[in-house]
Amino acid sequence: MVATMNAAASPGLVLTASLLRLAGWLQGEGYRFTTVTPATHARINARAGAAVARTLRDVFGWSRPFAPTLLPDAALEPLRMAGLLLETEEGLLRSAVRYSSIGQHLFAHSAYPTVEEDAVFFGPDTYRFVDLIARELRNQPLPAGGRILDVGCGSGAGGIMAALAARDAAPRLALTDINERALRFAAANAAHANCGAAELAQGDLFHPLDGQYDLIVANPPYLNDGAQRLYRHGGGRWGEALSARIVQEGLERLAPEGRLVLYTGAVMVDGRDPLLEALRPHLEAAGHPWRYHELDPDVFGEELEEPAYADAERIAAVALVVQRRDHPLQVHLHPAMA
Ligand SMILES: C[S@@+](CC[C@H](N)C(=O)[O-])C[C@H]1O[C@@H](n2cnc3c(N)ncnc32)[C@H](O)[C@@H]1O
Repeated sequence: MVATMNAAASPGLVLTASLLRLAGWLQGEGYRFTTVTPATHARINARAGAAVARTLRDVFGWSRPFAPTLLPDAALEPLRMAGLLLETEEGLLRSAVRYSSIGQHLFAHSAYPTVEEDAVFFGPDTYRFVDLIARELRNQPLPAGGRILDVGCGSGAGGIMAALAARDAAPRLALTDINERALRFAAANAAHANCGAAELAQGDLFHPLDGQYDLIVANPPYLNDGAQRLYRHGGGRWGEALSARIVQEGLERLAPEGRLVLYTGAVMVDGRDPLLEALRPHLEAAGHPWRYHELDPDVFGEELEEPAYADAERIAAVALVVQRRDHPLQVHLHPAMA
């Protein structure tokens, strides 16, 4: 694995190694967990008998506090080494990491509730995003040796599952995120998934890496988050600013015939889709074929109670796919040569 992060950051390497160890241990224990929305998570944890963890899924999925005797050293030691073991006022412990499964693969991400500024995201959006990528790769496989870039990779789930789905093409995978902690988690998740070498780079969208890609995938933050958390706040009036930048900057980074697969949220206002209205002129100016459709008409309904969404009627999960098609060179012959 090639890491372009600061190699001197040894606590970061300990974090990645510990996350990888824990994933291996959980896999051996047959652990599986599907992450739900924060609202559902809160409802389930509020049930009678759910205050203290009794199983591995309670600890590493539902993020419940647990008695120190519940876990063996094989789990406690990596948690402790990575600074992921928290103590509660009641003398119980809590894991600061969650593990969620996609098929047989486990992905480390931040424990519930994800309130920290540098929380590492994974949620129902991630499942829809991964499904969208898989569908695109089934419709049109990656060329041999194709380059995949996951921008704002978080846990790395999108890029890693894309690399696994395109394994026969021996793809080259790159993962970028503005959040260094996310890249530490993504490095562990990529190693655990055994998806081949991955290049990880920290920075703003496409800026940390050069070059062009055959498949660019992104599930950026798309909400107007009052707390402006990195994984949630998309900027702009409705949280659409990062998605718009990914389209504008991403089209420049597509290799010939390359595809951009953007999963994002679109705030609907009076039957209008302001995100699509903002994207359309750029897409039409670029001239490449594109498709845009709703994947789910109503996500994050609870956000509509926030003042920022006072004019919105719903938030939809949408998919935009753009494929680069260069116009054939127009050769104008001089009349004397015609
Ligand atoms: C909603 S999370 C999605 C994570 C992952 N793609 C997934 O599907 O689970 C958005 C991610 O974008 C990252 N991000 C936010 N602003 C960014 C920027 N300007 N450049 C790169 N990454 C950014 C966040 O740190 C976060 O990891």
